[in-house]
Amino acid sequence: MGEPITFDGRVAIVTGAGGGLGREYALELGRRGAMVVVNDLGGAVDGSGSSQSAADQVVAQISEAGGDAVANYDSVATREGGAAIVQTAVDSFGGVDIVINNAGILRDKSFANMTLDEVDAVLDVHLRGAFHVSHPAFKVMKERGYGRFVHTTSASGLFGNFGQVNYGAAKAGLVGLSNVLAIEGAKYNIKSNAVAPTARTRMTEEVLGPFVEMFDPAQVMPMVVYLCSEQNELTHEIFTVGGGRYGRVFIGTNTGWFAGQGVVPSIEEVREHIPEIRDITEHVVPGDINEELMILARLAGG
Ligand SMILES: NC(=O)c1ccc[n+]([C@@H]2O[C@H](COP(=O)([O-])OP(=O)(O)OC[C@H]3O[C@@H](n4cnc5c(N)ncnc54)[C@H](O)[C@@H]3O)[C@@H](O)[C@H]2O)c1
Repeated sequence: MGEPITFDGRVAIVTGAGGGLGREYALELGRRGAMVVVNDLGGAVDGSGSSQSAADQVVAQISEAGGDAVANYDSVATREGGAAIVQTAVDSFGGVDIVINNAGILRDKSFANMTLDEVDAVLDVHLRGAFHVSHPAFKVMKERGYGRFVHTTSASGLFGNFGQVNYGAAKAGLVGLSNVLAIEGAKYNIKSNAVAPTARTRMTEEVLGPFVEMFDPAQVMPMVVYLCSEQNELTHEIFTVGGGRYGRVFIGTNTGWFAGQGVVPSIEEVREHIPEIRDITEHVVPGDINEELMILARLAGG
């Protein structure tokens, strides 16, 4: 098993840590020695309302177990909120080493019935929220030459799910944020990964239906907390975790069909080559845009 993983001296921000998955992450980080900012707005699943008790209870639990934690009740959905969350970490613990962007809400509806306000509300919490927290946190991490980000994506965004066009778009957007942060953070020892969890929480109790008992949120925690550790060297990756399954999701591309350098094929030629264009028997998972360009360079004989 090797040495146990500890977080002594590390400062962690977990957004939406007042319940569900975030609470699991915060409690374990606290147990293993991290100083934890337990952020939670304390509203309902749809994002309405607010209360301090959710975050306070998690802080109390960490403290009772001998850990070090502080509550923050700001919303990730505003710039000011994000800045205040990071400032809480700096003021209370002197910096920030770990950010788990976990806060989330739902406003599910079929696209035809969804209002643009429902789109904004979901983008604001999941996608803009992650920017609001990560942007000030990245600056602190860069100065300290160390950082670990875990962004919470979702199968709904990666694979699609009826009634979640707002949520799916936000969650897929987090993959873009994570990928570029991973590249820009590399030289500062800042790692950035995304995790798509499946777990029984207030958010999914009804959605998971008969499978609900299969998905203990505690089972998601070890992967997420591992990715936050100093031992973790992985970055720029996406993991899918739930019900005891720990896997990887990847964005790859195939060789495809090469029409020839400078050749403009006819539409009919494209139609003819659809099978080759789609064939994924052989594929690569590019680490950045240049690695994709290499495929074309190879085809062009460069
Ligand atoms: N549970 C699953 O199966 C599942 C699947 C895919 C993705 N996710 C994602 O995992 C994350 C955690 O969800 P969960 O299932 O634990 O649900 P949850 O509702 O228990 O947790 C979300 C937490 O975020 C908090 N929050 C909401 N808006 C906030 C804001 N503006 N600022 C700060 N805190 C805010 C809520 O108060 C809540 O405590 C979410 O991002 C969710 O989209 C969950």
